[in-house]
Amino acid sequence: MKKPRVFVCVNRRDASDASCGARGSVQLADAIERMAEGRVEVRRSKCLGFCAYGPNIRRDGSGIHVMVDEADIPGIIDGSKESNIGELDAMAGQGGVV
Ligand code: FES
Repeated sequence: MKKPRVFVCVNRRDASDASCGARGSVQLADAIERMAEGRVEVRRSKCLGFCAYGPNIRRDGSGIHVMVDEADIPGIIDGSKESNIGELDAMAGQGGVV
């Protein structure tokens, strides 16, 4: 059976903080690989298009996850955490936009 793919945006911009790579996404990808123990295929990806809300991840079966932190990892790995992309408007007032 094919493993679900987890795409972690590791894009980093030089002159701006508005990129996932500048917000610790490489370390997040490493943590997902460690915690997944082979249950998902982790791929480091280019920009997913929601830079102001990074770190961002796209998982097969559950879509885009924004403002991801380590607490979100178990749910992303097992697929129980739903995409939060629909909550972007609410996040705009919580420091998600730079
Ligand atoms: S830099 Fe990660 S979504 Fe654009």
